[in-house]
Amino acid sequence: SSDGNDKQDSNQGNSNSRASDMAATLARAVEHYTDALLVMHAGHVVAVGDHRSLVRHEAVGELMRLSPPRNVEGLMMPGFIDTHVHFPQLDIIASYGHCLIDWLNTYTFPAEQRFADPAHAAEVADAFLDALLCHGSTSAQVFATSHATSADALFRAARARDMRVHAGRVMMDRNAPPALLDSGVTALKDDERLIADWHGRDRLGYVLTPRFAPTSTPEQLKAAGQLLKSQPDLHLQTHLAENLDEVKWVAELFPDARDYLAVYEDVGLSHERTTFAHGIHLDDGMRQRIADQGASIAFCPTSNLFLGSGLFDRASARAMGMNISIATDVGGGSSLCELESLKAAYQIGQLHGAVAHDVAGLESRANQPLTPWQGFYQLTLGNARAMRLQDKVGNLRPGMEADVIVLDPAATPLLARRTRWGQSSQVSLQEVLFALMMLGDDRVIREVHVAGQCRKLHGLMLSASSE
Ligand code: GUN
Ligand code: ZN
Repeated sequence: SSDGNDKQDSNQGNSNSRASDMAATLARAVEHYTDALLVMHAGHVVAVGDHRSLVRHEAVGELMRLSPPRNVEGLMMPGFIDTHVHFPQLDIIASYGHCLIDWLNTYTFPAEQRFADPAHAAEVADAFLDALLCHGSTSAQVFATSHATSADALFRAARARDMRVHAGRVMMDRNAPPALLDSGVTALKDDERLIADWHGRDRLGYVLTPRFAPTSTPEQLKAAGQLLKSQPDLHLQTHLAENLDEVKWVAELFPDARDYLAVYEDVGLSHERTTFAHGIHLDDGMRQRIADQGASIAFCPTSNLFLGSGLFDRASARAMGMNISIATDVGGGSSLCELESLKAAYQIGQLHGAVAHDVAGLESRANQPLTPWQGFYQLTLGNARAMRLQDKVGNLRPGMEADVIVLDPAATPLLARRTRWGQSSQVSLQEVLFALMMLGDDRVIREVHVAGQCRKLHGLMLSASSE
């Protein structure tokens, strides 16, 4: 998908003229070649397009051709971007039955304490990045634990795979087990050391990572704001308004703040390179402030369902002009597969429509379940834009980093029946994409190429130490 796709999709309307405007914009926004050639060199895209018009490039670089017979196998697109995920929670994914705060205390904090051991951190970092790649996510914005060595382990593993990974050590100085708490200014020194070692190195970026308002003192949040201001290209990630008990707790802990968002705003933590995970329990005033500040919300649909956090109001967020991404939030999220995220986002959109219809008795702006165009745009260029990385990843234009995946729309017998892929009566691209987002899992991710290097082929993972 290319520029404008998301914008045109926000033009909801019933009139024929709006529908035909939409169809025309869509035709411009989606580029699809049935016999495609992708030319890559030195980890970047050189050219992409129709095979016949690009044969002159064949001498230039490494080629990926999706043409007969391979076009019966694959749908090539940019690698997915997971904008919010916790690598130390890999091993507690699918832990039964708690809401946010209980879940943190019961599963998360004990699991994160094990990362004091660098060998454990290294083992999980390798497993986590391989699992991401296996699911087609070639880039990610990641929480480590509060141990600096956990961030080191993740960056090292990402570098071995040449992946675009933006990550940070979690900052916490209250309301968590003592073994996970930062002690005063030494912790900030850790962040400064990590920035010096990793930020901007190869495809890595450092992200300041105060976990969320309840686990930081006002002083720690203020210090994070100062550090953020001192380094103009640093990113920031945290959680915001995920759960109603959390919102209440924040009001008690920060009685002087106007609302939850203001806790971050007041110390300069909401800006255009900020990712707020969740943002479920916001009013339009807060949505507008986030939009004005250029921050983004990572919508984490499988997590919101799994932890019972609430139904994210994507339509209102879009109506206010907010930047949105879609992310897995593993281990709160129940899958590393971004196709599963799309499925859950679609279902949440359906429920929103039903709830709004019940309450208002009217067609509502909320009645907009995610379309496949929106979904695949979001996982690629949309998520890249939310993270301000659209000049690096998210599409396959010349000059972009060559992160490419190939999906197999006939990966399972049911998908093969539904998509009729490779048959003369194949269904439309839109229907194929929708079937993938409803029925797909890591089995449909047939090939994964990271910076031009193949990491998964014929559905099988290849070794990370390729060089
Ligand atoms: N809020 C604070 N920490 C976390 C976390 O680890 N996961 C989720 N989903 N929400 C949080
Ligand atoms: Zn999270």
